[in-house]
Amino acid sequence: TQFAASNNDGLQGRRAVVTGGASGIGFACAQALAQAGVTVTIADFNDQAAQEAADALGGKAWAVDLSDTQALEQASIDTDILINNAGIQRVAAIHEFDPEAWRLIHRLMLEAPFLLIRAALPGMRERGFGRIINISSVHGLRASAFKSAYVSAKHGLEGLSKVTALEGADYGITSNCINPGYVRTALVEQQIADQAKLHQIPESEVVEKIMLTEPAIKRLIEPEEVASLATWLSSTAAGMVTGASYTIDGGWSA
Ligand code: NAI
Repeated sequence: TQFAASNNDGLQGRRAVVTGGASGIGFACAQALAQAGVTVTIADFNDQAAQEAADALGGKAWAVDLSDTQALEQASIDTDILINNAGIQRVAAIHEFDPEAWRLIHRLMLEAPFLLIRAALPGMRERGFGRIINISSVHGLRASAFKSAYVSAKHGLEGLSKVTALEGADYGITSNCINPGYVRTALVEQQIADQAKLHQIPESEVVEKIMLTEPAIKRLIEPEEVASLATWLSSTAAGMVTGASYTIDGGWSA
């Protein structure tokens, strides 16, 4: 068996689809893959940002609302690497949670990944190679109050990822989750604002007294630190890594 331990091993010339790739973690993943010679497609409902990101990376834009899951049922996706990353957050107590907001989160963050994996698998099986990377969260493995939709969708994504790993095993297809703690993105900035409102405290205190109490390393994670792992998981060097979940949380879960 040939074995190479390079982050970029076997990536040159491959194709990737990155959902929510127009900003934050998704953009960092798309950028890192593009630098490794991968042709990236940015799937995002922010048309303009998707096009700008695609132009910057020499890739393609796919303007799509991934919460419109019915439309995805007919999709066929020709790609070697699929990064399920698009996500949103809503914070409310269960007894006050808007049911439509709850369903939206589940469509975008659990049903859409299922439909995209479903659409990408036939091509991956045919070529005998596939890398599916699901951007889960620390909240895919443990809970926080007021995040019932997000926590349950991410826990579901963990299960979907493991089943995909089992079904892909005979076809050179791996499936893994990445579980970040708080990453410096627009989503987290929104969360800081929401939590400040919910607990009626200043935003600076949310970061210090809520987000960074448990992680051993007292800073937010950079999107590039998640992208680095996603790139390695996409490489041929990571061929035996499947059905796994990797925390990048500065020691939060230690
Ligand atoms: P972000 O808000 O910076 O980027 C999310 C992207 O998804 C945006 O470009 C947005 O346009 C796109 N998007 C949202 N709804 C969409 C829809 N219906 N259809 C198509 N695209 C849509 O967020 P961030 O922080 O980069 O999050 C990316 C993923 O990482 C999410 O799944 C999130 O749950 C996960 N994550 C984020 C953490 C953080 O601290 N930022 C921590 C752990 C996980």
